[in-house]
Amino acid sequence: MARTPFIAGNWKLNNDHMEATHTVQKLAWLLRDAKHDFSEVEAAVLPSFTSIRSVQTLVDADSLELKYGAQDISAHTSGAYTGEVSGPMLAALGVSYVAVGHSERRQFHAETDEVVAAKVKAAFEAGIVPIVCVGEGLDIRKAGDQVPYTLAQVDGALEGLDAEKAAQVVIAYEPVWAIGTGEVATPEDAQEVCGAIRGRLVELYSQEVADAVRIQYGGSVKSGNIASIMAQPDVDGALVGGASLDPEEFAKIVRFKAHAA
Ligand code: PGA
Repeated sequence: MARTPFIAGNWKLNNDHMEATHTVQKLAWLLRDAKHDFSEVEAAVLPSFTSIRSVQTLVDADSLELKYGAQDISAHTSGAYTGEVSGPMLAALGVSYVAVGHSERRQFHAETDEVVAAKVKAAFEAGIVPIVCVGEGLDIRKAGDQVPYTLAQVDGALEGLDAEKAAQVVIAYEPVWAIGTGEVATPEDAQEVCGAIRGRLVELYSQEVADAVRIQYGGSVKSGNIASIMAQPDVDGALVGGASLDPEEFAKIVRFKAHAA
């Protein structure tokens, strides 16, 4: 089954709504100039909550094919949860995707696999596709335990999710030691774990579900290394942090097929 490659830019705590507007405008121009075919490689940006409305306005006004999403979602729908943003609120802004369980959320906000699973469910209830982030830290990698560690996170995140929803999930394998460090995993490192994730999806669900799920690699992805990572059979896209802040660089990553040779 052909999976449409999917490149998403995780802006993290960057770009206020004015900067977000400029960045998306520039990105849209670059991709339009290059006649980028979004049906061939899907592209999305994940701005801060405060920038989503501006991105929505631009995408709607210019009928852009660029998708957008959020970086987090509350596990709750409404109520006394100060500071949280719910799935229905995000859905009202036309959000297609939401990152769930990013390692920075797990590390700085103590998000457990249970919380991640609850957020995955909250996303689906709002009609938003979760990008489930998993990946090991340096100590786990040094011990050679990256596969079982990451698969346990996948099990935890998908707990209780039916096959129909599981087939729509995007999984981002992001080794923590490669995030923002400039130390990119080798294509073989990425394939090892992404392939194991797909194998786990066969065990948990079926070959059909495993074939449908898009698995991204994330961690110091740049225009210079994207093509070799995308050449791996089980890598279907990338979750890009730092390099997604520069529209020229991000457009080059989205257009990886143009410089794959
Ligand atoms: P990076 O971040 O590309 O800056 O390494 C990736 C991520 O955290 O999603």
